[in-house]
Amino acid sequence: MLSVKNVCKEYKKGVRVLDDISFEIASNSCVGLIGESGSGKSTLGRLILGLEKATLGAITMDSEPIHLWHKHNRGEMSVVFQDYNTSVNPRFCVEQILQESLWMSSKKMSNTELKKLLQSVELPVSFLNRYAHELSGGQLQRVCIARALVSNPRFLLLDESLSALDVSVQAEIVKLLKHIQNEKQMSYFFIAHDLESVSALCDTLMVLHQGKIVESVRTESLKYAQHPYTQKLLDAVIPF
Ligand SMILES: Nc1ncnc2c1ncn2[C@@H]1O[C@H](COP(=O)(O)OP(=O)(O)OP(=O)(O)O)[C@@H](O)[C@H]1O
Ligand SMILES: [Mg+2]
Repeated sequence: MLSVKNVCKEYKKGVRVLDDISFEIASNSCVGLIGESGSGKSTLGRLILGLEKATLGAITMDSEPIHLWHKHNRGEMSVVFQDYNTSVNPRFCVEQILQESLWMSSKKMSNTELKKLLQSVELPVSFLNRYAHELSGGQLQRVCIARALVSNPRFLLLDESLSALDVSVQAEIVKLLKHIQNEKQMSYFFIAHDLESVSALCDTLMVLHQGKIVESVRTESLKYAQHPYTQKLLDAVIPF
């Protein structure tokens, strides 16, 4: 489905933020990307979202160059960012936040559709009239997930979507995302800087280090990971 081939990205000539990145994400699978701050994770996310162009290499979706694919398949790829507070309009109530994502198509969701959507992220229907400041961080991020699902996407990109939440709320949302993935048969590309949430959600895990993918393993084989940087990440996980 998604194919990234020999992708390099330079913002400044000769300085590679991403260096020869290649991987694929099949339909209905979940691939995680971890790496420290500044390693190039969000840059790769933006290339996949078609917000920026790769300096070298090719990104395709169903064999079509990614920027054309986005043109022809509006709404098929959605994104949830880390900062739920700045990604919603504070003057909007939850109903307006959800309706807003349909503005381009000038459609409106019926009350039944809105209720179904809130239920799918396990929020009470009464929240439709609440404003962002009347919700907890975890609840607001659920609203953002619901908003990403409005267009019924086949592909969801999550860039540090759980990083600002506390660990117990992260675990709840990982469970929710797994459930949604099973139900809707979507693919996820899940970007994070910590191993725990990624390994809980993803089938395959890639490690980005200084712009290169230094490790790509099935999650169940994570303990056999080879690269010293992955080992360092594994050592940093504190078992409870
Ligand atoms: N538009 C830009 N112009 C110049 N440099 C940029 C631009 N966007 C990102 N960079 C640089 O590219 C590198 C990778 O940034 P990126 O945001 O992809 O990292 P990240 O892995 O997502 O980090 P974090 O975990 O902190 O979100 C950084 O050194 C950053 O300064
Ligand atoms: Mg980032």
